[in-house]
Amino acid sequence: MRRYVWVLLLVGTVLSAHGQILPSTGIRMLTNKEAVLTITNAPTTSNVTLRIYHPALDQFVPLVTFRSTGVNNHIDTAAPYLTSRFYNARIAAPNAITGDHITTTNGDLIIQPINHASFVMSWNGKMIYNDPVCAASLYATFPKADLVLLSHHHGDHFSATTLSSVTNATTRIIAPQATYNQASFAPFRGITTVLAYGASATVLGISVQAVRATNGNHMEGINNAYVTTIGGKRILTTGDCGPTAELRALQDLDVMFVCMNSFTMEVPVAASLIREMRPKVVYPYHYGSQCASPSYDVQLFKRLVANDLGIEVRLRKWY
Ligand SMILES: [Fe+2]
Ligand SMILES: [Fe+2]
Repeated sequence: MRRYVWVLLLVGTVLSAHGQILPSTGIRMLTNKEAVLTITNAPTTSNVTLRIYHPALDQFVPLVTFRSTGVNNHIDTAAPYLTSRFYNARIAAPNAITGDHITTTNGDLIIQPINHASFVMSWNGKMIYNDPVCAASLYATFPKADLVLLSHHHGDHFSATTLSSVTNATTRIIAPQATYNQASFAPFRGITTVLAYGASATVLGISVQAVRATNGNHMEGINNAYVTTIGGKRILTTGDCGPTAELRALQDLDVMFVCMNSFTMEVPVAASLIREMRPKVVYPYHYGSQCASPSYDVQLFKRLVANDLGIEVRLRKWY
């Protein structure tokens, strides 16, 4: 019989199943009502999936999969908006894709931050890469890209070397015309679809719409934001921009990645944009420099977004 660690805002216990020790799960509530789940006893370097009970589906669904370090803490930032939540944890497959799980109409979308503006998503057997730059080794544990979204050609968003290492002949790339025109982009033109502001394309069952996203450092036509619809979920990536009218008009976003730093938005501007747009989940990203340390205060961002609108702010390791 398969058994799990069950938690309802209580401390879990260690159980075993099929001769395998499953991670024990403890929980404590922060003053802001977020829940800190502590998973212990999972073998180091094994993959663990923390799961939550999904009432509408009447089953447990994955919340996050991570590599065990022996003791792992995960903060459930959705907890303040719920009256109760059931959790359990179990060992995942050794080759499981790690990251945050979003339930879609066709399996889970898994989101794994990599660095600065770079992240990967896995869905329905497909890998989607966003602005992959920095060392190829950062992507070594993930399958090659089926789809790459490029916001623009600046060095912290586009690297021909990195792009070569994560793509193959069947990869599809979506990029602005200005990126396509770069001499260093020439090797990728044959596998690229150019999207102008307002235009869309459907690739591998994934719909991508380019949205006008400019600021003083990113003039007209340089940078694309994208609304990507995956299994019914709408995900917005901003690239580098300010709060354009076209962004502010977007509604019904499930997940939004919002940029901030001296080349994009100051923290209060980004927080104000989020409060206006009200995505269900927001990831602050691009709050430092390429492959370098963060320089902007995401804790301040989170405080400014606040929790009165029900927006879940997910702080992840981007640097
Ligand atoms: Fe830029
Ligand atoms: Fe940037």
